[in-house]
Amino acid sequence: MDLGARLKGRHVFVTGASGGLGEHFARLLAGCGAAVTIAARRVDKLEALVGELREAGAPHARAVPLDVTDEASIAAAMAAVVADGAPPLDVLVNNAGVAASEPAVDVTADIFDRVMDTNLRGPWLLSVAAARQWRDAGRPGVILNVASILGLRVGKGVGPYAVSKAGVVQMTKVLALEWARHGIRVNALCPGFVLTDINRDFFDKPAGQQIVKRIPMRRIGTAEELDGPFLLLVSDASSLMTGSIVAADGGHLVSEL
Ligand SMILES: NC(=O)c1ccc[n+]([C@@H]2O[C@H](COP(=O)([O-])OP(=O)(O)OC[C@H]3O[C@@H](n4cnc5c(N)ncnc54)[C@H](OP(=O)(O)O)[C@@H]3O)[C@@H](O)[C@H]2O)c1
Repeated sequence: MDLGARLKGRHVFVTGASGGLGEHFARLLAGCGAAVTIAARRVDKLEALVGELREAGAPHARAVPLDVTDEASIAAAMAAVVADGAPPLDVLVNNAGVAASEPAVDVTADIFDRVMDTNLRGPWLLSVAAARQWRDAGRPGVILNVASILGLRVGKGVGPYAVSKAGVVQMTKVLALEWARHGIRVNALCPGFVLTDINRDFFDKPAGQQIVKRIPMRRIGTAEELDGPFLLLVSDASSLMTGSIVAADGGHLVSEL
């Protein structure tokens, strides 16, 4: 089965695509022939990526400014995704996220709110906005939430992040249950550690290197190793899957206790 071919002509909205995994997913989707709309706060990075994608043969690539912590920005972005003759939205990828690496006793209310607002409240509001578009148009839709194995297990010094991602896992199941009758599927991808800006500093430190030793495969992943599960979950190849939580982690979740 050619998973990529199933994305041809589909309109996919990817948040947090100004770097890291989101940028990688946007390139992957555009390469499959999807009409990709990318969003984040750093619009200059988005515009550069759109230019590159169009030059590489993806004429429908577009950028939309978005701060997922800001309700008005979410409303404007969701309107812009389908404005100016753009095709109706088919897939929302809630990928934008932030990490915080303080021990719990040092977590201020501001840090807690920033992580929750970005990782949980934003994806909730975006999902609801997308679901309203699909329900009102009588169209099916797909939502992929990029959670984390830290939504399923715990680690020290990543409290708010782990709590937010556990919320994303539960949100995925709640929305899958409520929206199945509208033809809207909601699934989550839980990557293990994949080297990007979000964790580069951490894996340079001894604590990061210690963690790698506890991963059964003894290595962190590459973005390319998420391509298979990602394309499965955003395409109709997963037509019977909703409320599914899919890990891609080198076996980290089954590490020995
Ligand atoms: N890398 C890993 O090992 C790993 C493992 C498990 C899960 N994940 C998850 O994968 C997703 C992507 O992570 P990454 O590693 O690619 O991180 P990254 O390289 O730091 O990229 C994060 C992206 O999120 C965007 N973002 C952050 N705050 C935002 C906001 N308020 N509004 C809109 N966009 C915002 C950033 O863009 P701007 O700054 O331009 O807004 C950036 O494009 C996250 O949800 C993360 O939790 C990553």
